[in-house]
Amino acid sequence: MASKFSIVALMIPLFMIIFMRAASAGNFNREFDITWGDGRAKILNNGELLTLSLDKTSGSGFQSKNEYLFGKIDMQLKLVPGNSAGTVTAYYLSSQGQTHDEIDFEFLGNLSGDPYILHTNVFSQGKGNREQQFHLWFDPTADFHTYSILWNPQRIIFSVDGTPIREFKNPESLGVAYPKSQPMRIYSSLWNADDWATRGGLVKTDWSQAPFTASYRNFNADNACVWSSGSSSCSSSNPPAALGEELDTTSQDRLKWVQKNYMIYNYCSDSKRFPQGFPPECSIN
Ligand SMILES: *[C@@H]1O[C@H](CO)[C@@H](O)[C@H](O)[C@H]1NC(C)=O
Repeated sequence: MASKFSIVALMIPLFMIIFMRAASAGNFNREFDITWGDGRAKILNNGELLTLSLDKTSGSGFQSKNEYLFGKIDMQLKLVPGNSAGTVTAYYLSSQGQTHDEIDFEFLGNLSGDPYILHTNVFSQGKGNREQQFHLWFDPTADFHTYSILWNPQRIIFSVDGTPIREFKNPESLGVAYPKSQPMRIYSSLWNADDWATRGGLVKTDWSQAPFTASYRNFNADNACVWSSGSSSCSSSNPPAALGEELDTTSQDRLKWVQKNYMIYNYCSDSKRFPQGFPPECSIN
């Protein structure tokens, strides 16, 4: 009897954890609005899957219903397969207006078998020009992979499948603005950028392959602070787990590994572009 009881007692929290995790996988119907594309964006499987498509006439896009001010936000994406040259899948956080803040992932398609470029950027107070670009260590079209943005007052960390690829530290002590007061929505779109995306616009979109489709699932913003009517769902006495996160030594080693082996562009080492010296934040990032 005693052992039966203890097994049951052990199972209850286990089931609760499983249930809570399942319940927390964000539902696209509940969390997002399709904003453009005239039927090319679709929410499927009772809100578990979202697909964007692009053809010669139009791309498509969606945005979150919520605005967030800090948080850890995860999304799984499976990118346009095959010959995706000229297509861009953008997945980003952004506030609104002239002096907006923005945290960007952009996936630049390529010819079949050639690598995608993962392009990242950070805007604060309307100013971007902070590009870092990467190749990936897997084929991002073969399966879903998790792309995460951790955004807190100290740092922004871009991660792929839990591996940090970029850290942008708050450069305010150097007199450079940092995104920390404007709430942002999540946006994503699939569009044609064959005037610049693939090899600088040399490779054009092959419309015979259209429609192009990218898929999304397992959105998770459990560790994000929803901003609504001027107040946050988070408080300093109740910060969500993982929000205060910084990189431990293992993660720092992973970051270095990615930057050494997969980074293909870093504005902070483009001396042609900054002949008068690198932007101040480059000294801490
Ligand atoms: C496409 O493939 C070429 C050749 O491997 C590579 O140099 C380039 O970075 C890839 N990505 C894009 C978007 O052009």
